[in-house]
Amino acid sequence: MNDRLRLGVNIDHVATVRNARGGDLPDPVRAARLAEEAGADGITAHLREDRRHISDADIEALMDALSLPLNLEMAATDEMKAIALRHRPHAVCIVPERREERTTEGGLEVARDENRLAHFIGPLAEAGSRVSIFIAADRPQIEAAARIGAAVVELHTGAYCDAHADGRIADRDAELARLTDMAALAQDLGLEVHAGHGLTYDTVPPVAALPQVRELNIGHFLIGEAIFRGLAPAIAEMRRVMDAART
Ligand code: PXP
Repeated sequence: MNDRLRLGVNIDHVATVRNARGGDLPDPVRAARLAEEAGADGITAHLREDRRHISDADIEALMDALSLPLNLEMAATDEMKAIALRHRPHAVCIVPERREERTTEGGLEVARDENRLAHFIGPLAEAGSRVSIFIAADRPQIEAAARIGAAVVELHTGAYCDAHADGRIADRDAELARLTDMAALAQDLGLEVHAGHGLTYDTVPPVAALPQVRELNIGHFLIGEAIFRGLAPAIAEMRRVMDAART
């Protein structure tokens, strides 16, 4: 079905567990293959500057082994651009990155860095990658993403998920309202809308129900849930919850 909400499974934290011991296990490529069997539409991997989880060799192995599209998350640096141009993944998602952060804390500041980012993403798009920009659900960021020629914006759902986890119901609802309005704005500006960060079975339904959202990228929760259910059942359940919310 054309209208099906796509699920991108982020396998970074399979590599986190591997790297806790060194060696080769667990293998992120095996996780990617299982994800495909369980109903994922794409695989997402973040090659961080400090290589704390996904490695250069992982990207190479994923590009060789995968039949699903790979969404390479990366910072807007020359090193990462060269890697993306070498591999030409299906999609490149530009994310902000600070060495000291535990995860990608905020969205990219597109509005303040418009010229540089426009030049940065041009060659990636010319090489055939769909360029996505990971941003907060803020009007100026979305408008700037459209101006620099991005194909896709991924709206950061972290603030919404944090408010939910903390029981701050009014904040959660306000964040959801913002996501709702900004997804509509982004689509009106001709951008494809994705969303992700911090999503769980509990928080995914209202985001999955937003008609403009075409893809969700979900990682940490699924890899954690895999400890209890197994990876394929954890992903299959996410697929089920997303589809139920969509209908
Ligand atoms: N989307 C983007 C752009 C991200 O940087 C991340 C985290 O790497 C995710 C989605 C997935 O977030 P989580 O692991 O919290 O599900």
